[in-house]
Amino acid sequence: MDMPPIWAPGTKGPETPNIARVRDYWLGGTRNSAADRRLGEQFTLCAPQLPYLARTHRNFLRRVVTRLVGDGIRQFVDLGTGMPTMGNVHQVAQQCAPECRVVYTDIDPVVVTESRALLEGDDRTAYILADVQRPEQVLDSPALRRLLDLDEPVALLAIDVLHHIPDSAGPAELLTTYADGLGSGCRVALSHTCRHEQLLDAMRLYSDIYNTPLPEFAFRTTAEVEKLLAGFEITEPGLVPIPLWQPDLDTEPDQNPEHFSGCAALAYRS
Ligand SMILES: C[S@@+](CC[C@H](N)C(=O)[O-])C[C@H]1O[C@@H](n2cnc3c(N)ncnc32)[C@H](O)[C@@H]1O
Repeated sequence: MDMPPIWAPGTKGPETPNIARVRDYWLGGTRNSAADRRLGEQFTLCAPQLPYLARTHRNFLRRVVTRLVGDGIRQFVDLGTGMPTMGNVHQVAQQCAPECRVVYTDIDPVVVTESRALLEGDDRTAYILADVQRPEQVLDSPALRRLLDLDEPVALLAIDVLHHIPDSAGPAELLTTYADGLGSGCRVALSHTCRHEQLLDAMRLYSDIYNTPLPEFAFRTTAEVEKLLAGFEITEPGLVPIPLWQPDLDTEPDQNPEHFSGCAALAYRS
């Protein structure tokens, strides 16, 4: 299927690959171009586990959002969303309870422009251009204030995004600032890609083969991720490998133990 002609002004549109659209491709979506697919293939040549990892994070999102809606949560703030496609938060939450409201955020203006166009007409979602490291850009946003009632509980989602936030930026403190700003009863659902020699080797290989430097990522160990949640109570089953967080046995489970290179948890502000 051809993509709708929605491209951010000032870019070359489909000719300029974008990593959020590459992820849509890895997740089996149609919101990507030939250039995105080509870049996706270049990455997977070096790191064949990347589409698997993207799927495990997305499947965790589905399970945890379903659980949160079951627990009565109707409002969500998602940090570092990428494209709002392929079973993203509003699709899962509103399928369970149509009144759910979702605020998406991303630092990439191209992603935000294209996503807003995709979400046009949906008055239960908003998409904010914001840096995770600047909580006020999210918490003080008129769009968030309009859409959410902070007297009612909110779930904050940080799905595969905190490796973009170095320790020097204080990711644990950022999480507590968001949670406190979103009101009492805030839940935090977190999944994090973990440090893994195979992944680091693959990134070095990609940089060498394609002569393209990659940014520094803060892939953390499970023990380091646990420290990010120091201000929270972690609920059952704890901080565990992503596929083991309340696996949904009615759908195909993610089950390649060799590729267990991420962890996930649901927590609440204590
Ligand atoms: C690996 S993707 C994950 C996307 C999505 N959460 C998911 O699970 O599919 C990371 C996303 O975070 C965004 N991002 C990176 N650094 C960010 C920052 N400092 N603030 C907000 N978003 C950021 C990127 O633009 C990208 O869309």
